[in-house]
Amino acid sequence: MTIPDLAARKGGPPIVVLTAYTAPMARLLDPHVDALLVGDSVGMVLHGMDDTLGVTLDMMVLHTAAVKRGSTRAAIIADLPFGTYQASPTQAFDASARLLGVGAQSVKLEGGRAMAETVAFLVERGVPVMGHIGLTPQSLHAMGGFRVQGRDEEAAERIVDDARAIADAGAFSVVIEGVMEPLARRITETIRIPTIGIGASADCDGQVLVTDDILGLTGDATPRFVQRYAELATTIDEAARTFAEDVRARRFPGKAHIFLPKAAQ
Ligand code: KIV
Repeated sequence: MTIPDLAARKGGPPIVVLTAYTAPMARLLDPHVDALLVGDSVGMVLHGMDDTLGVTLDMMVLHTAAVKRGSTRAAIIADLPFGTYQASPTQAFDASARLLGVGAQSVKLEGGRAMAETVAFLVERGVPVMGHIGLTPQSLHAMGGFRVQGRDEEAAERIVDDARAIADAGAFSVVIEGVMEPLARRITETIRIPTIGIGASADCDGQVLVTDDILGLTGDATPRFVQRYAELATTIDEAARTFAEDVRARRFPGKAHIFLPKAAQ
């Protein structure tokens, strides 16, 4: 999948995106998705952080390189982490160059009108950009928490303006996160680039979720917008408990797992 392939899917078959942070997970997801997002959610999901604000560019480079090694066909999109693109378009270009240098085909950045100049700067220099509007986790403190955005008319209009600004600046796609459903639908009908929803609308041009959420690996407090397709935490718990019982009872290792001299086999 190329970035133009994804851009051409506006109004077509829904675009399927899942997060990936490691090579083995990328290998498992690659046959099923159109794009793998190396999200800065990696900080919370794999590194135990409370939010995404402490994620560094070095972390994103490491995880993007790993995902690249595990994937053969899906497009790879990598998040620009907080503090690596907001200061200036040049700062954003330097950070993007590192992510594209290890295999990302596009970067994703959060923000609307305020980021339009940066998006245009990157796109003009050959860096495909995916926007991210609505609930933008890197603005956690400005939003006063992870809250659904665009609840009143004025706030909704601002988010529509954000979507237009990002599309007009040349982004090839935009993630719409955590907004009221009619607003996500309206933005999808209004702008000419594919919208990728998360907690948004079934009418978006595609959907993204955090893989560990759908696999049941991120605890019991699953957000409303997540559908769990597996309960891997339970599977892992059972496997670890059974291994521990086998070791303590000397049932493991068995004959099949050890190296015996020929005479003793
Ligand atoms: O970091 C991430 O995983 C994301 C998705 C949730 C859209 O930005």
